Amino acid sequence: MSSSVQAIRNPVFCAIDTPDVGKATALAAKIADAVGGMKLGLEFYSANGPKGVQQVQKASDLPLFLDLKFHDIPNTVAGAVRSAASAVKPFMMTLMASGGRAMMEAAAKAATDIAHELIVPRPLLLGVTVLTSMDEGDLLEVGVSGTVSDQVRRLAELAKRAGLDGVVCSPLEVEMLRRDLGPGFKLVTPGVRPMWAEANDQKRVMTPMEAMTAGSDYLVIGRPISAAEDSAAAAQRIALELAPAA
Ligand code: C5P
Repeated sequence: MSSSVQAIRNPVFCAIDTPDVGKATALAAKIADAVGGMKLGLEFYSANGPKGVQQVQKASDLPLFLDLKFHDIPNTVAGAVRSAASAVKPFMMTLMASGGRAMMEAAAKAATDIAHELIVPRPLLLGVTVLTSMDEGDLLEVGVSGTVSDQVRRLAELAKRAGLDGVVCSPLEVEMLRRDLGPGFKLVTPGVRPMWAEANDQKRVMTPMEAMTAGSDYLVIGRPISAAEDSAAAAQRIALELAPAA
């Protein structure tokens, strides 16, 4: 299990969804004092690789949530975890829980081994259960019958048994997963919107405070910060709203 002890200012990880290193670097620098960390995902990584991530890290020194959703045979995913952990030292990173128990176990072992080797905190490994873009009909098409929430619960339990540290989940699943999986398992939630922000394409949202009260550990918030006229002020406003929960 995790031995990651990096201090995090607040639970908000800002999603920096751009392929442009200059824009990502400028945003990270602007919000560095008001958020807990930043999330970089496939769009940024596919364009810029670990060197691009390192450039953004230099600009802000924010803890990194590397959201690459690994899904491959165990040996390959273990290698990917090692490579990512040594290149950019993420605070947390994702893999698809549907890759199965052996894949997640191999990833967990790789994360522990590389942390010992490099003498750095072990990255938190988060499983992605069912993508929120999928509904029951989509699950049926890939051979999974039953409800989305049963599948989320099944994969989250498997992730825990395989040694992962937590899962990414919708705010609406937090209460159920917190109850089923206990207090130590990390729940990381996108789909979070302050009252004053647009929902954009997020359909089922909670405010930052509601998500924390339901049991989230970390919140992923993108456009309410990144697309705001003043990103630093938007991030600060969210941090202030959350202050009573800290
Ligand atoms: O801009 P917004 O706050 O909607 O960004 C949310 C971030 O979280 C994006 O990077 C999006 O890809 C990611 N995400 C999500 N819903 C999920 C999983 C990830 O919105 N279920």
